[in-house]
Amino acid sequence: MSARPSEEHADIVLCPDGPMLLRGAAVVQDEDGVRHRTTRPVTAVCRCGHSAIKPWCDGTHKLLRD
Ligand code: FES
Repeated sequence: MSARPSEEHADIVLCPDGPMLLRGAAVVQDEDGVRHRTTRPVTAVCRCGHSAIKPWCDGTHKLLRD
């Protein structure tokens, strides 16, 4: 039994100690209510709170490890 097309991959992926990957998201609303539009097929949203381009991940989380 094969999965339905929408179940073949996750729409939201939480990366260990890293961003949340959103597949197919068009608008992300931040904690201040500001809406950020993306046109990328997969968008990385910062979860560590240290990105300089929030709400997007800029890779800074990699510097915070150990
Ligand atoms: S999760 Fe990547 S910079 Fe915060």
